[in-house]
Formats: sequence, C-alpha cells, structure tokens
Amino acid sequence: MSGLDRSTTAFQELIGTMRQHWANQLYPALNQSYQQAAEGQAIEDSQAAGRQVQDLPLYHWFCFIERHYQRMKYSDPRWGLAAALSARPDWVNAQLHPAQDSRWLKLDPALKIPEYYSAVDIHQHPGNLVGADFDGLMYQASATSIHPNTRRFEAHERMAQWLQSQGSFESVLDMGCGFGKCGFPIARHFAQTQVIGVDLSAPCLRLAARTAEQEGLDNIRFEQQDALHTGFDDAHFDLVTSTQLLHELPVDEIKHLLAESHRLLKPGGLVAHLDFRAHQPWQQFLIEGHSVRNNEGFLPAFNRMDIAAAYRDAGFEPVTVEPFAETEGATRADWPYWRFPWTLFWARKPAQ
Ligand SMILES: C[S@@+](CC[C@H](N)C(=O)[O-])C[C@H]1O[C@@H](n2cnc3c(N)ncnc32)[C@H](O)[C@@H]1O
Repeated sequence: MSGLDRSTTAFQELIGTMRQHWANQLYPALNQSYQQAAEGQAIEDSQAAGRQVQDLPLYHWFCFIERHYQRMKYSDPRWGLAAALSARPDWVNAQLHPAQDSRWLKLDPALKIPEYYSAVDIHQHPGNLVGADFDGLMYQASATSIHPNTRRFEAHERMAQWLQSQGSFESVLDMGCGFGKCGFPIARHFAQTQVIGVDLSAPCLRLAARTAEQEGLDNIRFEQQDALHTGFDDAHFDLVTSTQLLHELPVDEIKHLLAESHRLLKPGGLVAHLDFRAHQPWQQFLIEGHSVRNNEGFLPAFNRMDIAAAYRDAGFEPVTVEPFAETEGATRADWPYWRFPWTLFWARKPAQ
C-alpha cells in the first residue's frame, strides 16, 4: 500500500512472505505428516483427523503463524496497519470518497448494525469493518496478502468470467460487496449492466466509491444496506451475487439472505454465492481450526449446514454446489499448497 512508511512496508512484506512460506512449505510438510499418520486408518470426522497431528510441533508452529502473523499484521503497536493508518488521517481521507451521497455512493448513517457482526473482530480486524474511517483501506491491504498463489483478487475475476458463461444481465446486486472486489470485475466485464454493491461497512463503501470514481465507471454504485433486508423492490435484479459473505453469517441469517436473494430476483434470475466448503475430515479440521485462529466463528456451522436444502427452502431448484478454482489447477486433487476450499453455490429462480 502506498502511503505507508518504509518500516511498516517492510514489516507488512515480512508478514506476506511468511504467509507464502506457511502455505507453500509448512502446509505441504504438515499435510505429508498427516497423510502418513492417517494411512490405513478410518478417519471418520475432523476430530479424528486432528488427532493425527495434534502432538506435532509442526502443527503448533502452523497454528501459531496463522493466528499471530495475522494479528501482528493488523495490530502490531509499531508497524501494524491500524497504527500506521491511524497516524495518517489526511492521507486516509484522500483515498476515500467523501462521506456524502453521490452517483457512486449512498450512505445510511442510521443503519442498524446487527449484533452478530459488531460483536466479533472478524479476521482479527480490530473493531471489525465499522470502527474507523481507514477500515476499508486496512481490509484491502490485508486481503491482498491472505490468498497466496493467486494473482491479486483472481478468484473474483474468475467469478466474473464464470458469470459470462451464464448469459447477460441488466441489473446485478452484489451482497456484502466490501470495497468492490466482486462488483468491479462484473461491471468491467458487463459494460451494459448496472451493478449495485451493498454492505454494512461505510469505510469499505467509501473506498469502493472512490475507486469507481477514479476509474470513471458509470455502471456501478454502492449503498449502505443490510443485505438480508434490503430496500429494493421485489424482482428488481436478474443476478444476485456475493463472495465470502455466507460463511460470515449465522445459519439463520444465511437463510434470511437466501430468502432475500429470491425476493429480489426476477423469474429466471440467477443467484451465485461464492464461498468455502470443506468436504473431507482433514480439510474440515483445517477450516474449523482456521475459524478459531482467525475469529471466523460462524464458519464451522456454515460448513456443516445443508446449504442445498436451504436454497431449496428459499425457493430455488435445482441447486448446484461445485468446487471453484480460484486459480488455474487449484481444484486438482494433487494441488500441493494450502488453499481455501472455494465453492460456488448457484441456482436460478424458477421462471414461473
Ligand atoms: C469477507 S468480506 C467479503 C467482501 C467482498 N465480497 C470480497 O469478496 O472481498 C464480508 C463482507 O460482508 C459484509 N457484510 C457482513 N454482513 C453483512 C450484511 N448483513 N449486509 C451487508 N454486508 C454484510 C462485511 O461488511 C464485509 O464487507
């Protein structure tokens, strides 16, 4: 991120390099230890998978890096992102769209922030994404280093490419849009399409609106709204998307989100939520551990819920749940590096 001093930049690069080491060296070594220990055994669930590695120093080192380097990235008192950004309010403000409505931005300072959201420092982000003006910038800087082995925001770019295979769209709602990682590729790939991103986080929306303004993109705008209960009319959109939102919601809220997706879609419209799903006990053990180490408390319940049934209960049929390659080859069985188990959950609202 430009605007940071040299020491902070060097420290943040160290964190990014350690994340690469963690994903590309520590994880393969841990995986190999697990595969050797589990060979010939019936591993029925994530707990049984965990027992194969829980006494290994390598496993504890793996956990330590995952939790504490992320914490240091945000909260190191000297070189963490929060310290660096809070010391530069003028620079921060210059990166953001003014906190007022415009063709790119509609804020709602009175919006009620749900308790499930404000109660947790998700991803170890201090104060979550609604605490400080710089929260969007901090999230953007962090998100750039969290997915090793992909180009910057490659998963979101590939999502837009996948959408192209599904036809064309007049109007798109991107739920939980953050600073626009998913909305921007859609707006660029579908120049005739009107894209609206909604999020609870004003700092993220201000960053997104500033990006749209700088790029001169006229077919995207951002609104501060709760995605579970938006103010849009029934059947307003022909595509509803989200990326990495479902796993951050309690199960009941996921059901509300699917009901809202259904309400907002025109008959025949497409819903496509991109998220994570671990299927094998070893994958489940890793993702459940990640949820603890990264303060993502709703992820295990999301991972276990019958998501296809929830889509059907919301009125979607048939439902497709399929692995999603965030980069070329990532869903291959012999992919050696740590990765999130990206999964696409998609369906169409019945035409009648
Ligand atoms: C992990 S981030 C993903 C952001 C973006 N979609 C991406 O892929 O980078 C989850 C986002 O969902 C937003 N969010 C969580 N609950 C929400 C809700 N009920 N309504 C709108 N946005 C919500 C958060 O503020 C955050 O920006």
